[in-house]
Amino acid sequence: MTATIIDGKAVAERLRAGLAGRVAALPFRPGLRVVRVGDDPASGVYVRNKDRAALAAGFDSATIALPADTRESDLLALIARLNADPAVDGILVQLPLPPQIRADAVIEAVDPEKDVDGFHPVNAGRLASRQPGLVPCTPKGVMHLLREAGARLPGARAVVLGRSQIVGRPMLQLLLAADCTVTVAHSRTRDLPGECRRAEILVAAVGQSELVRGDWVAEGAIVIDVGINRGPDGKLRGDVAFAEALPRAAAITPVPGGVGPMTIACLLENTLEAAIARRRLPS
Ligand code: GUN
Repeated sequence: MTATIIDGKAVAERLRAGLAGRVAALPFRPGLRVVRVGDDPASGVYVRNKDRAALAAGFDSATIALPADTRESDLLALIARLNADPAVDGILVQLPLPPQIRADAVIEAVDPEKDVDGFHPVNAGRLASRQPGLVPCTPKGVMHLLREAGARLPGARAVVLGRSQIVGRPMLQLLLAADCTVTVAHSRTRDLPGECRRAEILVAAVGQSELVRGDWVAEGAIVIDVGINRGPDGKLRGDVAFAEALPRAAAITPVPGGVGPMTIACLLENTLEAAIARRRLPS
């Protein structure tokens, strides 16, 4: 078997086009504010891409760039102003933050109704309690890709590799809500290859270049690679050894061009959802 390559770029483009159509039909432009502290170069690229995609889809988007030595209290004051601004529907504070700022304090300061990252404990709690709320963008994008790949989710054995707050844990909740049988494997798991081999759906989100070898992948599995790791040669690699997995999987996402583009598209989707919910419009 040679896997179908899941074209995340194309799926994301379709999603963004659909969102642009819905935004154009609104009597207002949903507002997104992306806050960046310091000059981490990778964050700079991500933030520019988010802003560009939001503007192209008709959102009222702006980036607020603060110096690296910004005090936590000043960032919290900015967030309070954005929380109170009726034109702002979504607030995203780009991570990582400089060491003098506590990320948890910042995440908890964002109004949960404007938390388009879905990182606030209220939104994490809503997801775990199966209540409507804002869902973290990357796991949400993975669910879109699984549906595009034709995955039959109810009853499927899914393995999530990684237990981060941003990907692994919300991924568990979304797969469980879709009636998968879910295992979360991580750095302390015994026999990682064996756990992965049992997966009909394998989501790798550990941030270790090509950790998942070809013989960790079951014949016919659907493999979603969330990893984006830059090698010493400057090349981007996923958490899965793509060339080794290709002959075994039924479908697999490439890196780049798989999950990455979906994250931004889902940020826009969350911003539109937040705008509709906050303004009490029918969805
Ligand atoms: N840094 C890397 N990924 C993310 C993300 O999804 N959201 C935010 N806010 N920062 C990030």
